[in-house]
Parts: sequence; C-alpha cells; structure tokens
Amino acid sequence: MSGGLIGALASRARAARDRVLDHARLNDPALRVLNLGCGVDLMPTADNVDVVETAPGVTVVDLNAFPWNLPSTHYDYVIAINVMEHLADPVRVVEEIHRVLKPGGTAVMRTPYWNSPDQFADLTHRQAFSHRSFDMFDPTTTLGRQRSYYTTTRFSVDRYFVFIRPFGVYIPIGGPRPLVAGILRLAERFGRIVWSQEHWLTKRP
Ligand SMILES: C[S@@+](CC[C@H](N)C(=O)[O-])C[C@H]1O[C@@H](n2cnc3c(N)ncnc32)[C@H](O)[C@@H]1O
Repeated sequence: MSGGLIGALASRARAARDRVLDHARLNDPALRVLNLGCGVDLMPTADNVDVVETAPGVTVVDLNAFPWNLPSTHYDYVIAINVMEHLADPVRVVEEIHRVLKPGGTAVMRTPYWNSPDQFADLTHRQAFSHRSFDMFDPTTTLGRQRSYYTTTRFSVDRYFVFIRPFGVYIPIGGPRPLVAGILRLAERFGRIVWSQEHWLTKRP
C-alpha cells in the first residue's frame, strides 16, 4: 500500500475515533462539560481540570482529594479520557462524578483494556479495567445486583466501545453486541487485540 493510502486510512480512523466522543456536540456552549485530568487536551467550552496547571485556563483539582472543590448537580457531561487508571480510589471517583453530574447526566470513561500494552506503558497507572469494571454501579447487571452494597451510587452503563489498533491507529467498535463480545473473547484469550475501551454511564437516582 502506498503511504498516501495508509495516511488516508489513518486519518479516516482518527476521525471515526473522535466521532465516538463527538467533540463537536460536547463543544456546544449550552452544555456544561467537565474534562477530568485534561492534560494538554483542553476542550474549549469545558471546565478543564488537572492536578497541575498543564496549560493556561486549567483549574487545579486533585482528584484523589475528596470532596472535589466542584459544584454538585452541575454538569451535563463528565469526560475522563485516560485518567481513571491514574487515580487511587476509582469507586470514590465515580461517586464524586455522580455528585457533580445533573440528573440523567453522562460520564464518559476511556481506559486502557486490562491486557493492552497501553496498560503497562505508563508507570503512573494504578488500576486496570475490564469491560465489566463499571457494572457494579448498574443494578441491571449481574455484578451490580450481587455487589449492590459496595456503594449507593447508581449509573446505567449505556454504551460501550472497544478500540482496536491495526497499523497503529485506534479504531472504535461499538456494536453490534455479538461483534464486540466476540472481539472481547479473542482479546481475553490472546491479548494485543483490544487496546482501549470507553464506557458511557448515565446518572441514575
Ligand atoms: C494520560 S494523561 C491524559 C490526559 C488527557 N485526558 C488526554 O487524553 O490526553 C492523565 C492525566 O491525568 C492527570 N492526573 C493524574 N492524577 C491526577 C489527580 N490526582 N488529579 C487530577 N489529575 C490527575 C495527569 O496529570 C494527566 O494529565
């Protein structure tokens, strides 16, 4: 394949990845968006927070210190892209996300898949996540029913994407369910198939 064709495919795949998060919609100033652990990837109309001032306009918030100095019932979306795996107490973090979201608000969590090479690339990663890692908050799942006493915080896990990485380009696959389930079975067996994943959670009372 020529470099031009590979470049074109890579750019289409990048566009597909970004459509998952739908930056254009999240940049609507009418929406209140909180971008947790933003690093240098600031969203123009969001409240961008990080543990250090990574760029002008970033609010310093230590996500390991509770409660966060952020308003309750305020945000339509909380975005956590490659952040949860850095934090000390992810259950407490999800509880705080629930507090700051409006009723019916959405949390988007992108994390490395547990056996992804990305999981081991960064020494500051403290946690690993599977496709079921947020089920405990969702009473319609087996884990949510069995472990409902872990927390009183409730979300429903409404969307789930895996990211595969052919030729070094992340591509999201969000459905149909049997396709994602098949990919996960292969990933659990062989590794190096699912690199990253994204859970979309809706706040429940
Ligand atoms: C892998 S980077 C992701 C940055 C950005 N979200 C992105 O996708 O490019 C992880 C970010 O989490 C931030 N972080 C780690 N621990 C944190 C904490 N306790 N409180 C707030 N941010 C934290 C780091 O400073 C870093 O910017």
